[in-house]
Amino acid sequence: MTTRRRSPATRRSVLAVPGSNPRMIEKAKGLAADEIFLDLEDAVAPAAKAAARANIVAALVSPGWGEQIRVVRVNDWTTQWTYADVITVVEGAGRELDAILLPKVTDAGQVRALDLLLTQLEKAGGLEPGGIGIEPQIENALGLRNIDEIATASPRVRTLVFGPADFMASINMRTLVVGEQPEGYQPGDAYHHILMTILLAARAHGLQAIDGPYLQIRDLDGFRRAAGRTAALGFDGKWVLHPTQIDAANEIFSPRQADYDRAEEILDAYAYHTSGAGGARGAVMLGDEMIDEASAKMAQVIAAKGRAAGM
Ligand code: GLV
Ligand code: MG
Repeated sequence: MTTRRRSPATRRSVLAVPGSNPRMIEKAKGLAADEIFLDLEDAVAPAAKAAARANIVAALVSPGWGEQIRVVRVNDWTTQWTYADVITVVEGAGRELDAILLPKVTDAGQVRALDLLLTQLEKAGGLEPGGIGIEPQIENALGLRNIDEIATASPRVRTLVFGPADFMASINMRTLVVGEQPEGYQPGDAYHHILMTILLAARAHGLQAIDGPYLQIRDLDGFRRAAGRTAALGFDGKWVLHPTQIDAANEIFSPRQADYDRAEEILDAYAYHTSGAGGARGAVMLGDEMIDEASAKMAQVIAAKGRAAGM
């Protein structure tokens, strides 16, 4: 049994590199990121997954790396790709690998399944037992609700990674901008934790999330502010107590026309570029913004709300 290379523990900077792009991987080797993860998931189009696995193995075993923590993001367990991603990468380059980044984790069972597969691969390949870590990515309501059991599911778990784009899409948060506050959200809101807990429970179990009443029925501005807050988070609707509140609620819980149009534009561009007609790429530029599978899901949330509202 040979000893794996030991990496520093800091992860101040974690660089995402598409596994489908050998040129970008080669360039990343010389960059000063603490961790580099080679992506097989959303940055790689379905038709390019198998070739990306081979690129990643070739890149991991070739020279030129610095001291970076080397990680591969596999596809999530609901797809048909996960097992082959893990087997190909660990059999081909297990000695060069520090961890597997597991996206869209919903529960401890998914972490344990990966742990078991890694244990077998380490035994079969003569690798250090338990040497390959797991980085669960929290990207949906169920994953957040089960976060304690996910964090303690295996001694291989090294980090918990937030996936904002998929997370915002999974709870139907009403925004197209990843990493920024949704418009209308008020920081320091005393209701925030309670509202978010209700929203997460609703999304975790496939229910609608409805905000309660606003009792100052003559204060329409106040109603609009309160409704805007929960609409921005992703709630589906709000109680109304007066006819004037009905139109306001219908408007506020529907996307704005400009956002709806932008969402449809993102979906069209994404469909064109990933279908093969535009090159079967996983991540594409639309104006100044990068869009990928996760941002397309966020656009899908806005588009679905708009279509339901007859836009
Ligand atoms: C990253 O994976 C994200 O969904 O934001
Ligand atoms: Mg994601």
